[in-house]
Amino acid sequence: MASVLVVGGTRGLGRELAQFYAGQGRDVVITGRDAAAAAACAAEIGGSTRGLGLDLSEPYALADRLSDVGDVQYLVLAAIDRDANSVREYDIAAALRLVTVKLVGYTEVVHALLPRLVDDAAVLIFGGLARDRPYPGSTTVTTVNGGVNGLVRTLVIELAPRRVNALHPAIVGDSPQWRDMPPERFEALVQRTPTRRLVTMAQVVDASRFLLENEGINGVNLPVDGGWLCT
Ligand SMILES: NC(=O)c1ccc[n+]([C@@H]2O[C@H](COP(=O)([O-])OP(=O)(O)OC[C@H]3O[C@@H](n4cnc5c(N)ncnc54)[C@H](OP(=O)(O)O)[C@@H]3O)[C@@H](O)[C@H]2O)c1
Repeated sequence: MASVLVVGGTRGLGRELAQFYAGQGRDVVITGRDAAAAAACAAEIGGSTRGLGLDLSEPYALADRLSDVGDVQYLVLAAIDRDANSVREYDIAAALRLVTVKLVGYTEVVHALLPRLVDDAAVLIFGGLARDRPYPGSTTVTTVNGGVNGLVRTLVIELAPRRVNALHPAIVGDSPQWRDMPPERFEALVQRTPTRRLVTMAQVVDASRFLLENEGINGVNLPVDGGWLCT
């Protein structure tokens, strides 16, 4: 069976999803920037998982890095190199890096893998709720997450009959990025969330599986936010 490839699968949400599919007996490939670290992480995940080193901020090198990946059924694009940026104190280098990673890098991965994306393949792109709910310093993050919307729409047309969807999580409270946040901030976020709970990694895995596996779902940008968008 064709593999599950998780770009940005060495940590956080990507890793959690890789772990799930490895547990289902799937052949899984995870990527991080460092090949040895990705291989070590793949060994921790276990099953039939292997690691690959690639840097999305260097898109010209991606086709070569992906050259020994075989047929892919589920392609998950989850990598992020976070950037705090505002238009008043604009860090051009950081902005270029994030835009390259999330928009050019993600697209080049699809381009490089296209002949190996099987007909019933599904692509899942990670955006984020900063798309609709900006915060101070989210200028580039909000912009690229908005770009994910457009990317989904054009890829649905260009990759047909393969499916393409995106997931836009709110702050995932138990993810490595956020689980050590100060308790006052955590509580403030909980109070702002209609469910009075922050979204969890398990819920993100569940939503990811729905987008990847349900063959009727295509072109969807799904918020996983506990109702934030209603506030
Ligand atoms: N966590 C949340 O609460 C949250 C909320 C909204 C949206 N999201 C979105 O969900 C996705 C996953 O987030 P996360 O918090 O789980 O991420 P994370 O824990 O920070 O992990 C980031 C992953 O991206 C890889 N990576 C970083 N820079 C890279 C680069 N230049 N090229 C290739 N790979 C690179 C990292 O690998 P190495 O470090 O091994 O290189 C790692 O595997 C992201 O797209 C993020 O925007 C997350």
